[in-house]
Amino acid sequence: MNQYDHPDFFAEYARMSRSQYGLHGAGEWHQLEPLFPDLAGKAVLDLGCGYGWHCKYAADRGAASVLGIDQSERMLGEAIRRNTAAYIEYRVCSIGDYDYPAEAFDLVISNLVLHYIEDLDAVYRQVHRTLKAGGTFLFNIEHPTFTAGVRQQFAPDGTWPVTDYYYPGERTTEFLGYTVKKYHHTLTQILNGLLQCGFAIEAVEEAMPPAEWQSQMPEEMQRPMMLLVRAGKR
Ligand SMILES: C[S@@+](CC[C@H](N)C(=O)[O-])C[C@H]1O[C@@H](n2cnc3c(N)ncnc32)[C@H](O)[C@@H]1O
Repeated sequence: MNQYDHPDFFAEYARMSRSQYGLHGAGEWHQLEPLFPDLAGKAVLDLGCGYGWHCKYAADRGAASVLGIDQSERMLGEAIRRNTAAYIEYRVCSIGDYDYPAEAFDLVISNLVLHYIEDLDAVYRQVHRTLKAGGTFLFNIEHPTFTAGVRQQFAPDGTWPVTDYYYPGERTTEFLGYTVKKYHHTLTQILNGLLQCGFAIEAVEEAMPPAEWQSQMPEEMQRPMMLLVRAGKR
């Protein structure tokens, strides 16, 4: 079962600022929003759409069609409850099972999902295939310095240990009080993987809280938790 379908984990996730306040409750939004291309008339695919915030954002900005897929029925239930709009379709489907029709989308977005994926290159190939020429792949993945360590937690002395960096693969972490399986990918795997697949890297950002949140988020000023990337299909 997908972790997000577990009732207790789902309830904890619902308490997060991003779940209560949507995009403006998400620490990365001030950096992610400027990376979106023009959405008017565009076909958009959201991989791991969760509550559907980014689908609704695209629809509100004139996207012609938006498909949000997610493995979790509970998460999609929230998407339908909170972020339904004309031209948005929500579908229970895993990133691995989706059929990725050739040259069908102008924008593929994936926010905080790809660290749940073991074979990143396989996703890159499918996204490249499903994008139209000139299309955009915009994603936010947990940063490799965040995912590297086997425990992914601050040390007792308050430092952030980056260990086992060159051992990509499965990590068992604590998230919202539950044990969650994620995958560590090195920076080379994330960025060079895109280049190898034929993408051009257009923008890279490391998530940093907005100035007005920084004093309340001292941990987020010690190391980047997320890596935001925009890549184009040449
Ligand atoms: C942290 S949430 C992010 C949701 C949404 N993208 C957002 O930013 O609000 C991660 C989501 O990824 C979904 N997910 C994880 N692995 C997946 C997979 N292999 N296929 C599809 N969805 C997946 C989970 O069900 C969950 O909804």
